[in-house]
Amino acid sequence: MKSVVIEQPEQLSIAQRAEPQPAAGEVRVKVKYASICGSDVHIWHGHNPFAKYPRVIGHEFFGIIDAVGAGVDPARLGVRVAVDPVVSCGHCYPCSVGRPNVCSELQVIGVHRDGGFSEFSVVPNANAWALPDNIDDRVASLVEPFTIAANICAFLQPQPQDIALVYGAGPMGLTAIQVLKGVYGVKQVIVADRLTQRLQMASDNGADLTLNNAETPLAVQLAGVQPTLIIDAACHPYILAEATALASPAGRIGLLGFSGAPCTITQQSLTSKELSIFTSRLNSHRFPQVIRWMSEGKIAPSKLVTHYIPLDEIERAMTLFEKDPRSCCKVILEI
Ligand code: NAI
Ligand code: MN
Ligand code: ZN
Repeated sequence: MKSVVIEQPEQLSIAQRAEPQPAAGEVRVKVKYASICGSDVHIWHGHNPFAKYPRVIGHEFFGIIDAVGAGVDPARLGVRVAVDPVVSCGHCYPCSVGRPNVCSELQVIGVHRDGGFSEFSVVPNANAWALPDNIDDRVASLVEPFTIAANICAFLQPQPQDIALVYGAGPMGLTAIQVLKGVYGVKQVIVADRLTQRLQMASDNGADLTLNNAETPLAVQLAGVQPTLIIDAACHPYILAEATALASPAGRIGLLGFSGAPCTITQQSLTSKELSIFTSRLNSHRFPQVIRWMSEGKIAPSKLVTHYIPLDEIERAMTLFEKDPRSCCKVILEI
């Protein structure tokens, strides 16, 4: 089979590998579509602290179960599935409180173990979620990125009367906008980015107001409007302090970033307004929820997709995704 392998940082190739056999409790997925994420690019360039090499990348993928391991119901053969990349131990403290996404032995498919940019991928049966017929194959790999928005929103508990501010109109910001509007019915979703093309995508994905903060600070443009819910999907370290200053008293702030750089913030700026800060990593059992939202038409994954590219052109696809944020959002590989 063909697999996209990062042998070492900066060494991307399409390798011929033996077709894997599913072990007990596993299924083999014949992958049909897979989407590119920033973390795939980071593993390519050696900027992902969790990645081990060589690695078959890809953690957003869809396909059909074509082999099952011992103990797996053969009725699973032929089932269309989206794969949850979070593999957890099931018995550590975070697992015991329903937070497998921060399992102390966390394994992310496509990061810690081989992933879905491949003709076949072997995954735990429990990670392969059946899809209803009304979810199109061509967008089914996008369940995973929407689970990121689902997970942060589970902490933030958006309400219709919220005034939300989303930093960043990349794939993560756009999924957050769609979930805030389409699932939670939030009255006003304001989006900040520094690229006009990305702000246009935010409008197309449901933002009520877009603000370009490249030159004029948000505090000036908001003119006293205090967001009650803020999601940082741009993830620059300076944003937390700014969000704290902009937020309404009793506001909630959600963080998604992994920067190792420090940021400066005072206790007073948080406590005087009794702000709540939540962080969110990957997803905890959010696949069924997102699949339901997609099936019910509450979210529209096709709005994120700008390109379909064959697997053989992986290097062109990854380069386009990385270098061209003005024209490019989600790039989906056809396998
Ligand atoms: P992206 O790079 O495509 O999008 C980021 C957007 O933020 C860009 O449109 C950029 O122009 C904009 N931006 C940059 N600085 C800004 C600022 N100061 N103010 C407003 N906008 C600004 O990235 P993507 O894929 O949307 O991911 C966003 C972040 O989310 C990344 O840092 C990534 O590491 C993180 N992430 C976190 C996950 C989690 O589970 N916690 C999962 C996936 C991504
Ligand atoms: Mn992703
Ligand atoms: Zn665990």
